[in-house]
Amino acid sequence: MAAMASCEKEYVSRTRRSKAHFMKAKKVLPAGVESNVRFFEPYPFVAKRAKGPYIYDLDGNKIIDFALGYGPMMLGHNHPRVVKAAHAQVDKGTMFGVSPDIALKYIEVLQKAMPSMEMVRFANSGTEATMHPLRVARSYTGKDKIAKAEGSYHGGHDYALQGVDIPEDMLKDKANQPSVPFGTGIPKAISDLVVMYPFNDWGVTEEVITRNADDLAAVIIEPVQAGGGCFIPRDNYLKKLRKLTKELGVVLIFDEVLTGFRVALGGAQEKFGVKPDLTSIAKIAGGGYQLAAFGGKKSIMSEIIPDDEGNVYHGGTYNGHPVSVAAGLETLKILSRPGTYAKIDRIGDSLFDGLRDVSEDRGVDTWIESIGSMGQMYFTDKEVVMWRDAFDVDRDAWHEWFMYSLGKGVLFGVPHADEHFFTSLVHSKDDIRESLEISDVAFGKIARQRA
Ligand SMILES: Cc1ncc(COP(=O)(O)O)c(C=O)c1O
Repeated sequence: MAAMASCEKEYVSRTRRSKAHFMKAKKVLPAGVESNVRFFEPYPFVAKRAKGPYIYDLDGNKIIDFALGYGPMMLGHNHPRVVKAAHAQVDKGTMFGVSPDIALKYIEVLQKAMPSMEMVRFANSGTEATMHPLRVARSYTGKDKIAKAEGSYHGGHDYALQGVDIPEDMLKDKANQPSVPFGTGIPKAISDLVVMYPFNDWGVTEEVITRNADDLAAVIIEPVQAGGGCFIPRDNYLKKLRKLTKELGVVLIFDEVLTGFRVALGGAQEKFGVKPDLTSIAKIAGGGYQLAAFGGKKSIMSEIIPDDEGNVYHGGTYNGHPVSVAAGLETLKILSRPGTYAKIDRIGDSLFDGLRDVSEDRGVDTWIESIGSMGQMYFTDKEVVMWRDAFDVDRDAWHEWFMYSLGKGVLFGVPHADEHFFTSLVHSKDDIRESLEISDVAFGKIARQRA
């Protein structure tokens, strides 16, 4: 553990039970956590329960939550209607091993929101929801390579864990960036099958994809790139990508694991008016329960139908788990109510615009990239519109703001400077005001340190 920074003092003094729990956990859980992303210095706090926009930790602290389970909790924690739907399904049975009747009801609602999902298969995580369609695309095209944006994150399988983070000494010019595995244990042979393109730099993207088209099965993209923070597509980037991939016969996969049901009910494909060939969803799709899915064009998804040619295998014991489907269905029904997304965006704008104003008033340069209820704050005096722009932002200032706020009871998102944070449908004006007041003090401290 690194030496304690002053911004961590209040957090440490208020989380003694969490610390004791973490010290025990470290003995049995690698890094003391269930997922690497959950760890942060000096140690992560431990949740006891959650309700609405709040998490209550082991020490009894009430924390305003802008991490929201890393995205899924768009309705806040334990929304009463979602809880009721899940309970009702538990009473009927939790695991059938044959198709649950509500799966088709879910797909009906899903297809209304995302008409591009002509055929759908369920899965259990965002990782599966990107892994399977990549395989389907390889089968459909008979080609092996895929292209992904540098810095983007599509889950934990070997094709996806490429170029998520590229060490400085391995960084090349954007048109010739080799794929670099994220972490060890990934065969080099897989890296050779992944082509890197720079999200939001259309000229280079077009050149890279055109040059590799003969070998490319698919281009996968987070239509708002959250890998590296939050980057919103500019200058019709997605429309241009759609046109190019169609012309070149390359399958276009939108990874809407984060953007689905967040930037609009129909995800980024609705928001930006672009129809991908295949789509991956998870997170909000299950309303806090493990549900994911992928789907798209019938002609491509038909690769999964077993026939004499031996098509794509897709299985999974828990696929379309009835409790998750019930909770997800109720979540989508609530989100489908007219006016919901206007409210969601209003709450998001009040936080992100507020942070812009407060940091400016304190004379701390920030670039806040946000779209409705998701965004990230970069401490920099420059524009940050693509992954490489975020290299030289002030991560120490981010840590200062994040830890000071957490010590005061506000969790500003996934606990790393290259991530993002979210608002939900249930954050109140008071939650936003309190979070801005706390940030204001943090910005004042940062300004004084820099003076
Ligand atoms: C865009 C995107 N795709 C895929 C994933 C992987 O999802 P999961 O953690 O459910 O495997 C994530 C997770 O954060 C994500 O943000």
